[in-house]
Amino acid sequence: MIKNYFPINRSNTIKKKMLIQPFFVDQKVNDSKKIKGLGDNKSWSSSNVIKAIEKDLKRGINNFLLFIVPLQKQRTPEDFSFHYEVIRKIKKYFGKDIVLLIDTCLCSITYDGHCGITHQKSIDLNKTHYSLGLAANTYLEAGADIIAPSDMMKNTTKYLRKIFAQNGFSNSQIMSYSTKFKSHFYGPFRNVAKSSPKGFDRSSYQLPVADKKKAIKSSIDNAAQGANYLMVKPGMTSIDLIGDIKKETLLPTGTFQVSGEFASLQMLSKANFGNYIDLLKESLVVFKRARSDFIITYGARDIAKYL
Ligand code: PBG
Ligand code: ZN
Repeated sequence: MIKNYFPINRSNTIKKKMLIQPFFVDQKVNDSKKIKGLGDNKSWSSSNVIKAIEKDLKRGINNFLLFIVPLQKQRTPEDFSFHYEVIRKIKKYFGKDIVLLIDTCLCSITYDGHCGITHQKSIDLNKTHYSLGLAANTYLEAGADIIAPSDMMKNTTKYLRKIFAQNGFSNSQIMSYSTKFKSHFYGPFRNVAKSSPKGFDRSSYQLPVADKKKAIKSSIDNAAQGANYLMVKPGMTSIDLIGDIKKETLLPTGTFQVSGEFASLQMLSKANFGNYIDLLKESLVVFKRARSDFIITYGARDIAKYL
């Protein structure tokens, strides 16, 4: 039996089990480093991330989405040994006490910050899939619970399913960034993940916010290709899509309140235009009202004690 970590949930209340806390591990960071705009969120070294997770566990947060930023960029990424080391260390320490999701993309490892391997201002899909497959496979070998591909290239979920089947990982789980818009709200993230695209933007692979049909179809495609969970982001650009996506796919569907959205709450409260917890609560309650089955937010640890 494959465990369903984020089952479809009809209630209107947010439970701790539905929350996912993002985390950054940066090979360049010694102890920890504050992240501009993201409140108490920090980038961690691979050893210090353990105690940070431990602290969140005590607050009742069990689900973590990890962004791993390696020191060395690669033209055609195939060395994911830092990622392996980080995931292995965390899973060895916490075992089944946590659900560890790994953001699976190439933008913090490629020289030009694109989510795939580029060739003359466009994406080389075969090479990109090959690299992503190596990455995902390595993460699973290291003990990752859920692979979360965020690259938005065509048929990545399908490709990963094929690779998993070949490598004895048929029961492994995929949370697909299935409807991900080309957005201006990823700013603080790209700053920490060192993943700003150079040369051209991401509009050849991320979705245009104006097109609802395309947005829903992208999630349906990912469901058909074998995703276990679907995710839409940014949150506020997607609240009208969640219900439709769930109705079409019957899969658990969640929301990612992205770095720019979260930073805007922080900035409002810093300017004394509102109370941070109130702002956070209101924004998350709406994601739930829109029928999210899980919510990824940089404020998960802050909201936990109010639930
Ligand atoms: C990497 C990735 C991004 C985010 C999650 N995974 C950035 C991007 O696509 O440019 C955004 C997360 C955030 O802003 O909090 N592909
Ligand atoms: Zn990316």
